Order: sequence, then structure tokens, then C-alpha cells
Amino acid sequence: MEQFKKDIEAGLSGKEKTLPSKYFYDKKGDALFVEIMHLEEYYLTRAELDIFKNQTQQIINAFALKKDTFFELIELGAGDGLKTKELLKELTNQNYKFDYVPVDISQNALDQLEQTITKETPKVSVKKKQGDYFEVLDAIKGNHCPKIILFLGSNIGNLSDEIASTFISKLSDSLNPNDKLFLGVDLIKSKEIILPAYNDSKGITKAFNLNLLARINNELGGNFEISNFKHQPEFTESEGICRSYLVSCEKQNVFIQALNKSFHFEKGEKILMEISRKYNSEILHKIIKNSNFQIQENFKDSQNYFANYILNRA
Ligand code: AVJ
Repeated sequence: MEQFKKDIEAGLSGKEKTLPSKYFYDKKGDALFVEIMHLEEYYLTRAELDIFKNQTQQIINAFALKKDTFFELIELGAGDGLKTKELLKELTNQNYKFDYVPVDISQNALDQLEQTITKETPKVSVKKKQGDYFEVLDAIKGNHCPKIILFLGSNIGNLSDEIASTFISKLSDSLNPNDKLFLGVDLIKSKEIILPAYNDSKGITKAFNLNLLARINNELGGNFEISNFKHQPEFTESEGICRSYLVSCEKQNVFIQALNKSFHFEKGEKILMEISRKYNSEILHKIIKNSNFQIQENFKDSQNYFANYILNRA
């Protein structure tokens, strides 16, 4: 709560306003994101699921695990675990010994995930951890059993390249030689495909962004007039970054009780809500170059929209 307050204040006080996308995920936000994953326009989840369903055995082989050695399967930003469940099924069928450690910012998402796994694959031992990506690094360091880290869904795309490369490098330092990172990234492609994924015809993505303003109203006593902001994603192909903005429809002030502070918006002024970086191998190389990871191999879906990389801790 204290951190939430601080981050919101910092984000709205700068010259260019921004709000951290990690706060999208309250109960309502979790549900909206599940809806997004099922949208026609949001190809990412389907593309990655295609990889998990059709290349399950190749993925397991690439992990290079021994059946008699206990390991940890740690998932950063596990969400509803849709893709991971394909892997969990196969790993238990093949008698691998492991704990599944889902990490998520949302306790609600973790509780729901645990419930569905207990139903669908009761043999899997689930050890959930609530927190953001950086908060779990220490927990990872703690023990010395072999580890596979799943960082799927292009979740890394929410981090700037600078923060992503710091995170990846710290993560590699927390691991032991031959541990693996299985990283899912959305690939750079045309605007015609990417923009609709962030501007769907049903308005779910719009509601997902506006929900953070509602959350500020509810939890910090803000008085955002939600209908005074419009949703506007932008994508530049040359850079490969999609940015989602909320744009103030008029000149207005917003008061936030918990901060005892008022924030002014000009007509047309934007709040940067989220970056969704898209990748190619050159960009990925740059991001991992200061880490102890080496690219071992990658898997792509049938349309070449999405890629899952196996990074080996040297
Ligand atoms: C969960 C971060 C991968 O950036 O594509 C979906 C979140 N935002 N629609 C993404 C999101 C708007 C998503 N990630």
C-alpha cells in the first residue's frame, strides 16, 4: 500500500505522466486480463500455447533434466498458468520430481491458479510466492537445487530494455550453472497485427487500462472521472515498442485524498500506462549481453509470431 501510494505519486508528478502497469492486476484487472487472453485480436497467448502444445517434448528435452533429481520450476508472472499446465501434465506423466513455484504480483491470481492445478494435476506440488519480479530474486538464491525459470507471455516486454537487462543479469547471478531460463517473447511484426491486440473491438483492453484509474479512486480516494480519459495505444515498427496511453479528453484536475494532492491535466495530455516491447534476436542479444546466460535454442509458433528461448546459465 505504501509502495503503491509512492509509485502513483511519483508517476503523476513528473513532466511526462506515467502509471506502473504492474498495478493493473487487482481482482478486476486479473479478470480483464483473462478476457484479453481469449480475444480474437490478442494473438500472443494462442501463439505461445501453440508452442507449448505442439513442442512439449522438445521443450522438456531442452531443459536437460534428470528424472531422479529434484528440481524447482519457478514461474515469474504465472497468471492463470494456461500454457504451463501443458508442461506440468507432461512432467508428472513422465515422473519428474519437482515443485512448481508460481510467482505473481496478484495473490488472487495465485490462489485461483493453485485451485485449478489441485483439480487438474493433483500430483503437482505448488509453492506460491506473492511479489514482483525483483522481490523474488533473493528467494531464488536461497537453495541450490536445479532450477528452470519460466518467464512467459512476453511479460518481460513490460520492462524497459535497461531494467530488463538489469533484471536478467541479476537473475542469472541468482542461478547455478546449467539452470535454465525459458523466456517467451512476442516478435516484432507489422502495426496491422500488433495494434489491434492492444485496441480490441470489444473495448476490454481499454477497460483494463482505465481500471487502474478506478483502483486509484477506490484505494487512494482519487476522483478520476473515468469517462474523461480515452485509451490510445501506439506502435512504432522501427523501434518495436507498443505504448499504451490514457489521454485526457479535457483540461481537468484530479484530487487524490491519500496523497492530499491535486494533479492537473491539459486537454490531450497523456499518461503512459504500459510498454509492451517486441523482440528479435538482435534485441534479445543486447538485453542478455551483460548476464551469464547464453542462448541455447528457440521455439516458434506456426505463424512465427512468438518465440520461446531457452537461455542456459553458463
Ligand atoms: C501480460 C505484459 C504480456 O503487454 O501484452 C495485454 C499485458 N496489456 N493487453 C502485454 C497486456 C494489454 C501483456 N503482458
